[in-house]
Parts: sequence; structure tokens; C-alpha cells
Amino acid sequence: MKTQWTTFTHVFVTSWMLVAVNPGYLSVNASYRYLCDSPIYCPGPFLEKIQLNRVFNDSKTFVDMPTLKPLEEVIAAFSRIPQNASRDTLLDFISTYFGSEGQELVPATLDHFPYHPSFLQKIRSPILYEFAIRVHNYWPNLARKVDQSFMCAGCVSSFIPMNRSFVIPGGRFREIYYWDSYFVIEGLLVSELYGVAKDMILNFLDFVETYGFVPNGSRIYYLNRSQPPLLVQMVKIYYQATNDTSLLFHAFPTLIKEYNFWRQNTSIHVTSPKSQKRYTLNRYIVHNISPRPESYFEDYETVELAT
Ligand SMILES: *[C@@H]1O[C@H](CO)[C@@H](O)[C@H](O)[C@H]1NC(C)=O
Ligand SMILES: *[C@@H]1O[C@H](CO)[C@@H](O)[C@H](O)[C@H]1NC(C)=O
Ligand SMILES: *[C@@H]1O[C@H](CO)[C@@H](O)[C@H](O)[C@H]1NC(C)=O
Ligand SMILES: *[C@@H]1O[C@H](CO)[C@@H](O)[C@H](O)[C@H]1NC(C)=O
Ligand SMILES: *[C@@H]1O[C@H](CO)[C@@H](O)[C@H](O)[C@H]1NC(C)=O
Ligand SMILES: *[C@@H]1O[C@H](CO)[C@@H](O)[C@H](O)[C@H]1NC(C)=O
Ligand SMILES: *[C@@H]1O[C@H](CO)[C@@H](O)[C@H](O)[C@H]1NC(C)=O
Ligand SMILES: *[C@@H]1O[C@H](CO)[C@@H](O)[C@H](O)[C@H]1NC(C)=O
Repeated sequence: MKTQWTTFTHVFVTSWMLVAVNPGYLSVNASYRYLCDSPIYCPGPFLEKIQLNRVFNDSKTFVDMPTLKPLEEVIAAFSRIPQNASRDTLLDFISTYFGSEGQELVPATLDHFPYHPSFLQKIRSPILYEFAIRVHNYWPNLARKVDQSFMCAGCVSSFIPMNRSFVIPGGRFREIYYWDSYFVIEGLLVSELYGVAKDMILNFLDFVETYGFVPNGSRIYYLNRSQPPLLVQMVKIYYQATNDTSLLFHAFPTLIKEYNFWRQNTSIHVTSPKSQKRYTLNRYIVHNISPRPESYFEDYETVELAT
């Protein structure tokens, strides 16, 4: 994967260098649909107030908390908070109106968990064997599914629902991530956990059908950012491990859709000043003009310190 990462970095850096050197030779397509429109979880007065007062050490905590009251009620209560409210007042407000972060997720059972996958038999060194079996047995701790049944009518959350189970990176990363999942799936396949690997791919295909691309992660604040596109490779390694042609047939039209997104929505035309030949460069790029909701305070501070 080192090579692919290098390629992405290279394309990214190259496209910026071109912009810096000679903007006249470029035509840019920056058509991203604006989708982060929640008055709570997307940039706006609400988020700014909570995040810049640093109610939580990690900005991601707040944006991962579902409401416990209908949206209108939460907004109305927020409007009654005085301008100069202290951090404690804000914390009181949050504990009244919001549930705990990541509450929409519950552990998922991994069906047919193989206790002795065949890769273990190939390991000679007892130390490596011990290590491998611990990694293998860790999967059930990271398997999740969505359960929003606790939410009231009108309650909102930043989570993008998925129909199938998945594996999360863990820690503050309580949701499914796009390119992380490629590496997760590589591991799941080695562990012979084919069912959840397939479920993850099907979730991503649903994202492409719904949003036109795969967001950075399954939260609405990631809806205008993708990650290095590895869905095709996920399907490829899954197929190589299983010979499951039905998934190939199902995935193919959707993979074309994803590719069209990278071609049409994030690419640029570059004209060579020497040959006048016109090239299309598909870029991994984000069009973002405000602090990332999940790192709001951190981004704000970075900019403040730099200016
Ligand atoms: C891509 O661009 C097209 C045309 O500009 C637009 O209609 C579409 O919504 C964009 N797709 C996404 C996912 O932003
Ligand atoms: C993308 O989302 C961020 C955060 O939600 C927002 O600040 C930004 O304006 C959005 N960008 C576009 C092009 O919609
Ligand atoms: C934030 O971090 C500080 C020091 O690391 C700790 O004392 C404090 O309890 C933390 N606050 C929260 C809300 O987690
Ligand atoms: C906020 O301002 C009001 C007057 O505008 C004042 O009475 C109150 O004590 C202030 N509260 C805090 C927490 O500073
Ligand atoms: C989940 O399944 C339901 C019922 O089949 C369907 O309507 C919905 O679109 C699916 N959700 C996603 C994210 O694809
Ligand atoms: C994707 O999400 C991760 C985790 O929050 C974040 O560190 C990264 O900046 C995001 N990518 C983009 C392009 O915003
Ligand atoms: C997939 O099919 C090929 C060709 O028939 C075969 O060589 C390979 O062993 C199969 N792999 C699996 C995982 O079934
Ligand atoms: C920009 O988008 C338009 C409409 O989707 C498309 O015709 C054009 O080829 C795109 N330009 C690039 C550089 O991809």
C-alpha cells in the first residue's frame, strides 16, 4: 500500500504545485454538493459556541452525541443560553439535551467466528502465533451495527445509518471509515470473516448509491469529503478470497458511478504549455472553507496560531 499512498500524495502535491505555478493552464471542476446542513453538527453558531468554549477536550465528542429531545426543542433551548454562558452552563445544557457519544452503535455478533483460521497453522514462531491469535480474537470488540431505537421522534444524530454490520477503527473513531476499511477488510479476509467483509462493502456501495461517493466516514459532517478511493480494491480482494461473482455483478455499476464522481467532480484539465495537449487529472481533494466539525477547536487554534 506504500506505493498507492505515495501516488495519492504525489497527485495531491502535484496538483497544488500546478495551481501555484501557472493557474492559466488549468480548468477546475469543484462541483461538490453541499450536504452538511444540520444546524447542530455542521458549521454555524451552535457548533461554534460549543466547540470554541472547548466543552470537551476532543471536539469530536460533541458532534458524535445524538439529541435526546426533538431538534426544535434543542435549538429553542440553545437560543435561551446567554451569550456569556460559562463552560459549565454549556455542559449542563449538553447533558440535558444530548446522549452520550456513539450511542447509536451497538456491538454486532460475528456469525461463524472461526477460532482456528487456516493462516494460524502456517505460523511457526510461538511468539508470532500468540500475537496473531490475539489480533484475530480482537475483531469481535470492533464489530458494530446501528441501533437508533432509543431516539425520540424528531431527535437527530450525526450518524449516517447503515443496514449492515461493520468494523470500526476504535477509540474516538466510532464509525466506519472509508480507506481505513480497505486495510480492515484485508485483515478480515485473512481471518476468514467473509460475511462482515462483504457487509462493509455493501454499506459502501449503498453510500455511493445515496450520495454519489463514499464519504470520509459515516457521519453527516463527513458528507463533502471522501478519502483515497479504495472501494474497487475492496471488491477485488474480497473476490480473490471468495470467488463470489454475485458481488462483482452487484458492485460493478456502482463502482462506475464512484469513478465518475472522481472524474467529474474533483478533476482538473491541465494543458501542457509545450505540446498544448490537454490532460485530465483526477484529484483527491477537499473543498472546505471552515474548521472540520470533528476537529473544530483544533483547526481554529491552528489557524489562529499561524496568523
Ligand atoms: C457532481 O457534480 C454534478 C454536476 O456538477 C452534481 O450534479 C453532483 O451533485 C455532484 N456530485 C456530488 C456527489 O457532489
Ligand atoms: C464542507 O463541509 C464543511 C464542514 O461541514 C463546510 O464548512 C464546507 O463549507 C463544506 N464545503 C462545501 C464546498 O460545501
Ligand atoms: C481535559 O483534559 C484535562 C487534562 O488532560 C483533564 O484534567 C480534564 O478532566 C479533561 N476534561 C474533559 C472534559 O475530559
Ligand atoms: C452575563 O452577563 C449578564 C449581564 O449581561 C450578567 O448579569 C451575568 O452575571 C453574566 N454572567 C456570567 C457568567 O458572566
Ligand atoms: C436499508 O434498507 C431499507 C429497506 O430495504 C432501504 O429502504 C434503505 O434504503 C436501506 N438503507 C441504505 C442506507 O441503503
Ligand atoms: C477524515 O476523517 C479523519 C478523522 O476525523 C480526519 O482526520 C481527516 O482530516 C478527514 N479527512 C478530510 C479530508 O477531512
Ligand atoms: C477461485 O477459483 C479459482 C479458479 O477456479 C481457484 O483456483 C481458486 O482456488 C478459487 N478460490 C477460492 C477461494 O475458492
Ligand atoms: C466538469 O464537469 C462537467 C459537467 O459534469 C464536465 O462536462 C466536464 O468535463 C468536467 N471537467 C473536468 C475537468 O472533468
